[in-house]
Amino acid sequence: MAKNENIVWHQASLSKQARRELNNHQSFVLWFTGLSGSGKSTMANAVASKLFELKARTYVLDGDNIRHGLNKDLGFSDDDRKENIRRIGEVSKLFVDSGQVVLTAFISPFQEDRDLVRELLEDGEFIEVFVKCPIEACEERDPKGLYVKARQGIIPEFTGISSPYEEPSNPEIVIETDKNSVEECVNQVIAYLQANELI
Ligand code: PPS
Repeated sequence: MAKNENIVWHQASLSKQARRELNNHQSFVLWFTGLSGSGKSTMANAVASKLFELKARTYVLDGDNIRHGLNKDLGFSDDDRKENIRRIGEVSKLFVDSGQVVLTAFISPFQEDRDLVRELLEDGEFIEVFVKCPIEACEERDPKGLYVKARQGIIPEFTGISSPYEEPSNPEIVIETDKNSVEECVNQVIAYLQANELI
């Protein structure tokens, strides 16, 4: 018997549209993707703070934090990373349904997995933000000392060193954290959201 055979979808009494109207803004995902140390978490949190100032309801989902709880059973093999992103895609969809802006900060190294999340959501709800930063700069920053350990072989399957990172082929936004300040990158994201009447 199929696992889901006896489960029937229950229609909620409140719609996504009604919740968006209450919040006075659209709900969508800002999906930050990039190498370790590229600035995903910094950018997601800085954009969330700016959106908070603008009275938008936001929530940040961050790789390091989610791996302490919901996804603590997952490691860094290709399959585990895939499952990590699949679950976050589903959680993001719930946040979008709740009428909020969700900002995710996951390396999400595979184009196919990011595309699956895009497909999970409705048109325009998935905004891929490539946090572009050369690996040399990320390695120089090495905020958690992980690149040093990866080079020494202490951390296996490390993104950009011993595990691949596929750059987004057609992201909605590209921010270059080695060339522009945090404030400039935040303004770039906010300008995109305003131009597309999302906030
Ligand atoms: S993924 O690829 O999307 O499933 O990764 P993510 O959930 O974003 O987790 C990345 C953070 O985990 C730490 N870490 C590693 N990153 C990459 N490769 C390996 N092997 C690894 N081991 C631990 C690291 O702190 C990442 O955080 P960021 O913020 O990206 O530096």
